[in-house]
Amino acid sequence: MSFKRWIQNKVGIGENREKLALIEKRIAALATIQQWGLPEILPIPEALVHRAWALVFEENKGLGASSPRGIHRSDPMFRYPFQVHGGDAKQVLQEYYQTGWDAATVLKKTCPSPEKVLDFGGGYGRVGRFLASIYPQAKRMISDPKSSAVDYQIKHFGALQDDEQAMDLIFAGSVFTHLPRSAFTSTLHALLGRLSRHGVLVLTLHEFISAEYIFHPYTEESALRELEDVLSKEVYGSVYCSESFWREALHTAGGLWKYTILNERFGGTQLYVVVSAG
Ligand SMILES: C[S@@+](CC[C@H](N)C(=O)[O-])C[C@H]1O[C@@H](n2cnc3c(N)ncnc32)[C@H](O)[C@@H]1O
Repeated sequence: MSFKRWIQNKVGIGENREKLALIEKRIAALATIQQWGLPEILPIPEALVHRAWALVFEENKGLGASSPRGIHRSDPMFRYPFQVHGGDAKQVLQEYYQTGWDAATVLKKTCPSPEKVLDFGGGYGRVGRFLASIYPQAKRMISDPKSSAVDYQIKHFGALQDDEQAMDLIFAGSVFTHLPRSAFTSTLHALLGRLSRHGVLVLTLHEFISAEYIFHPYTEESALRELEDVLSKEVYGSVYCSESFWREALHTAGGLWKYTILNERFGGTQLYVVVSAG
């Protein structure tokens, strides 16, 4: 067999193609059946959770340390890295909690005492679980296209259903990194229209690129079709955009808006973009 042919077989475009597709489907079927048997909160051994938590909150002390730790069975923010790291629970748990807590700390610094906060596209509460500890007096709302995620944050983290009214702080963590182009702009405009007089929108984006807008259909959702309320490739992809696209999207919102980019990075990579009336 030629070298080229051998490579083709390895990557599944030669004689292995059908076999690989069959294995993929079989794994997907098993994953779906396994998912049906999972309890709402993943039964992660307490010692593992405790160890990861202790790495984030030294000796399990300090603001945020008494926040709820349970992780929903369908949370892709935990499930996908867990799959990528081949089941290294300690690392994945630590990163999951650390990302959530770091984001809560950034929000507190950026907007110290909002009365109403919206965790927009808040998912299963990687960040939302910490909002009660940093904003104990605030009304905390959640919105997400996944009803199981909204229900979970209401039931376990004391969030409220989004009342669609004005907000002092809107956080959209890793949401605009996934929207198709037209949804990106319309969602940005809608959120800006909901800010109170001194309100702030904090959203995250990938580092800007030179191309205007790139939408790849592959995400944690497309890799984990067995999860509840999974989103389709048409409405949820991986998005990269240029700074001029971003500025134009802001400019066409109407009104005067200014934005700043913080030094911190969400999850270690994404930019925090803070938008307020300018
Ligand atoms: C990468 S996850 C981030 C979840 C959460 N913010 C976090 O950081 O853990 C993206 C979230 O955006 C939600 N989402 C997708 N499309 C959306 C839309 N059009 N409007 C609001 N949220 C959306 C998804 O359901 C998902 O929960």
